[in-house]
Amino acid sequence: MNTSPAPSYYIKTFGCQMNKHDSEVAAGLLEVEGLQPAESEAAADLIVFLTCCVRENADERLQGQVASLKALKTNPEKYRLSEEDEPRIECGAGQAPPLIAVGGCIGQRDGEKLLESLPHVDIVFGTHNIERLPALYQQAVAKREAAELAGSYVAWQPDATVEIEEDSDSFAADLPTAREHPWHAWLPITQGCDNFCTYCIVPYVRGREKSRPMADVVEHARQLVADGVLEITLLGQNVNSYGHDLPESVNGAPLFAEILRRVAETGIKRLGFATSHPKDLLPETIEVMATTPAVMHHLHLPVQSGSNAVLDAMGRNYTREQYLDLVAQLRAAIPGITLSTDMIVGFPGETDDDFEDSLALAEEVVYDQMFTFLYSKREGTPAAAMTHEVPADIAQERFNRLVECVQSSARICNERLVGSTQEVLIEGSSKRDAHMLTGRTFGSKVMHVPLPEGACIDDFAGRIVTAHVEEASTWFLRGSLLDRT
Ligand code: SAH
Ligand code: SF4
Ligand code: F3S
Repeated sequence: MNTSPAPSYYIKTFGCQMNKHDSEVAAGLLEVEGLQPAESEAAADLIVFLTCCVRENADERLQGQVASLKALKTNPEKYRLSEEDEPRIECGAGQAPPLIAVGGCIGQRDGEKLLESLPHVDIVFGTHNIERLPALYQQAVAKREAAELAGSYVAWQPDATVEIEEDSDSFAADLPTAREHPWHAWLPITQGCDNFCTYCIVPYVRGREKSRPMADVVEHARQLVADGVLEITLLGQNVNSYGHDLPESVNGAPLFAEILRRVAETGIKRLGFATSHPKDLLPETIEVMATTPAVMHHLHLPVQSGSNAVLDAMGRNYTREQYLDLVAQLRAAIPGITLSTDMIVGFPGETDDDFEDSLALAEEVVYDQMFTFLYSKREGTPAAAMTHEVPADIAQERFNRLVECVQSSARICNERLVGSTQEVLIEGSSKRDAHMLTGRTFGSKVMHVPLPEGACIDDFAGRIVTAHVEEASTWFLRGSLLDRT
């Protein structure tokens, strides 16, 4: 009888919500396979990286993090290093070193090549075959056992298990998931991207855009509601073009407004979505957002630049004026809607005037939140071949000015809410103070409220409460509990 404890896994996730969703799927699949979550990397038998390569620093971080795990495999307190050949180690009985798997966008992009710089990685997979993770894990375990039987185990196997698919028909959404929070679910409605913004690597690592059939999305949402989920976030690189490739579409028109309405009809309490491309945000979607009570009053609408010349060079297919018009329509239809965006600084050819246009747009919109990025050259994208690169010091100076503007507008937006009443979905306790509940408002703002005397966090986690806003800071609201629904 085998009495050894179940093997355990630890997942490290980088990048966007797609990877967050995929990491919940990876956890679900590994648990079905009999693995248990580990407390830390050091305690895990399998360490999985879900990686991102959207910018250079994300790439570098992975290299550093994976490289540091080499030490786990060659810990002299646990494993004997063989004398003649340094990377070979001989395992003590029952003490196999952990297996390291790299998946996600870097896995997809680099495949086998990844092993040149990270030879101690055991498994490489990509963005189209996450469902293969348990089988790849078993293959790697079998290889390790065979090597052990043969007398010694090679810490970084020359025959690592590598499997990359160029495309996939299945949606990772059809697979078992272990959700981080029982009350929140990511629900992918499209995969891939067809926009090919000139700076962006995502279409190359996530493939062409494909919509999940409407009936599948609605059925999935129904199951989630039955399972007690309170908030669903519909996911796609550009949710607004959802459905243009489905048989229900008339002349390739998107069906996003329709899917939003139908998912809301399942009875979900809160419905959000990410990400929206401004060129595809249709009036009917704004109408559904305004008239459907479950749809959250928050929109992430990446603008990338406020200059028409730069927007054109980025291949974004809208103008500054069209973008500002959308913002006006949204604010007229949904009073109090919170807006966030992404902006890139230092795109090749960006002049001082172009940057001033970006800053002026940010000042005009007064965003609740902005994710600011220094342009990062990604090999293989059209922008990588563009000349007139912006010198790093100038880009950094522009970046710093933009960040200042972002912080002051975020504070202005939060201060406007002092005195208001908000519905807050409590996620748990604040990281800094165990007696402070923290959650998100219907506009997706972080809000803290003190835990009532004698109550415990678990009474509130995953519940929607009513709270009064008393104080505002740049990135969160603070207030007091009025009621629990
Ligand atoms: N599909 C989403 C997310 C794309 S990646 C969207 O279209 O919004 C998230 C953000 O990373 C982008 O919005 C963009 O602002 C930023 N980004 C992408 N490629 C980049 C690059 N090469 N350099 C700097 N920022 C980049
Ligand atoms: Fe990248 Fe543009 Fe697609 Fe977003 S819409 S993933 S920025 S190519
Ligand atoms: Fe990064 Fe891949 Fe998402 S490159 S942003 S994790 S799609």
